[in-house]
Amino acid sequence: MILEKIETRTARAGVIGLGYVGLPLTVAIASAGFRVTGIDICSEKIARLKQSISDIPDVTNAVLAPLITSGQIQVTTDFSVLRELDTVNICVPTPLGENRTPDMRFIIAAVQQVAQYLHPEQLIILESTTYPGTTEEVVLPELNTPSSTIQVGRDFYLAYSPERIEPGNSTYFMTNTPKIIGGVTPQCTHIAKTFYAQFISKTHTVSSPRTAEMVKLLENTFRSVNIGLINEVALICDRMDLDVWEIIDAAATKPFGFMPFYPGPGLGGHCIPIDPHYLSWKAQMYQYHARFIELATEINNEMPKYVLDKIIHALNLQRKPLNGAKLLILGVAYKKDIGDIRESPALEVIRLILDKKAEFLYHDPYIKNLSLDERETYYSEPLTVDLVESVDCVVILTDHGAIDYDWLVEHAQRVVDTRNATRSVKKGQEKITKI
Ligand SMILES: NC(=O)c1ccc[n+]([C@@H]2O[C@H](COP(=O)([O-])OP(=O)(O)OC[C@H]3O[C@@H](n4cnc5c(N)ncnc54)[C@H](O)[C@@H]3O)[C@@H](O)[C@H]2O)c1
Repeated sequence: MILEKIETRTARAGVIGLGYVGLPLTVAIASAGFRVTGIDICSEKIARLKQSISDIPDVTNAVLAPLITSGQIQVTTDFSVLRELDTVNICVPTPLGENRTPDMRFIIAAVQQVAQYLHPEQLIILESTTYPGTTEEVVLPELNTPSSTIQVGRDFYLAYSPERIEPGNSTYFMTNTPKIIGGVTPQCTHIAKTFYAQFISKTHTVSSPRTAEMVKLLENTFRSVNIGLINEVALICDRMDLDVWEIIDAAATKPFGFMPFYPGPGLGGHCIPIDPHYLSWKAQMYQYHARFIELATEINNEMPKYVLDKIIHALNLQRKPLNGAKLLILGVAYKKDIGDIRESPALEVIRLILDKKAEFLYHDPYIKNLSLDERETYYSEPLTVDLVESVDCVVILTDHGAIDYDWLVEHAQRVVDTRNATRSVKKGQEKITKI
């Protein structure tokens, strides 16, 4: 029954959690012709969405508006709508709790709501990034209690399918990135695959939810460890007076067996600094200490301090102390051309320079204001000649594409470049200190 509804796109779909993952997913499902209801606990967000105002850069208001006004997408804080839904994708946060342990509160809260309205012929899919075992050890027991009359794989269907989108990536987005799917039973996998095949060009099924959960953690741990490795190589090159950027570019000419990763001021974003700890936490239950993850974390976490050393060095070349120096931070987003500061290493670099009594201003075309801990709110300064000339050093922490780096270096007294953003600058290379 549910299969037929999915294939004819008459199934009523639902998405719980309308953030970076859930909102693009809601739009993708709706664009394939399904009626979708988005559910979120944040009433302000729901009120904005009802007016077709999106907080997520990958979903423009122009794309959202016709779907909201036509009723193809409905949004609510009321979970009782789950009673009417045939499919439910759960896209709630999975942050770290104390001592970098998985914080399952959001998943449990969402699943308890699903359990309350669970009915036969309903497909439930968890998309939040999490440790292997979550779907069967945490989600399933909430849905399939000993007193349940309905059973997984027979009456309702449960699968895990990790979201793999990279915000801001305009080449690979949700619908053209293959979707990994692992159901609790073969029928669960089959139904979930049929659902995703309606709006995603390629699906790849695996043998279990645990496998699918591990796939996502492998992908993000791979990035974290390789970034840790290249940051370590950058530290070694610095001591050897070698240009790590030139070395990476040369190594990347090898057409096989090498994939370039680049050093930077530290890890940022909602995934790479967090997800590997879900794996190391679970590995401990198998008496395994995940050494690569810990080592990469240690090296990556040291990078803001290394940037501070580079700033001190750059100021030293001008016979200036850090105490009282005026610094312009260029870019506070965690990566190029996006307006996301979650876990951004810029925040740690700013804390360090403030602790050393330096003064800072910042410019970021995507981040208009910045609140740091309990301190005051800072506002992005217009990038003018006066501003650039007035500071002792410009520190590039995010290599946003809209910045004219030739112009910047021409007017700056000194530049610390943590991203190799100035690689093509023709004049003034002697003013630049790179990591
Ligand atoms: N952001 C990414 O690039 C990305 C990529 C792949 C996977 N993921 C994973 O996807 C999951 C969601 O991440 P995100 O970036 O979309 O988070 P987000 O913080 O942008 O959005 C989560 C949304 O869930 C809502 N929410 C929280 N608890 C809820 C509940 N009980 N019921 C309903 N709504 C609830 C929040 O109000 C928020 O709107 C996480 O596990 C994350 O690791 C994120």
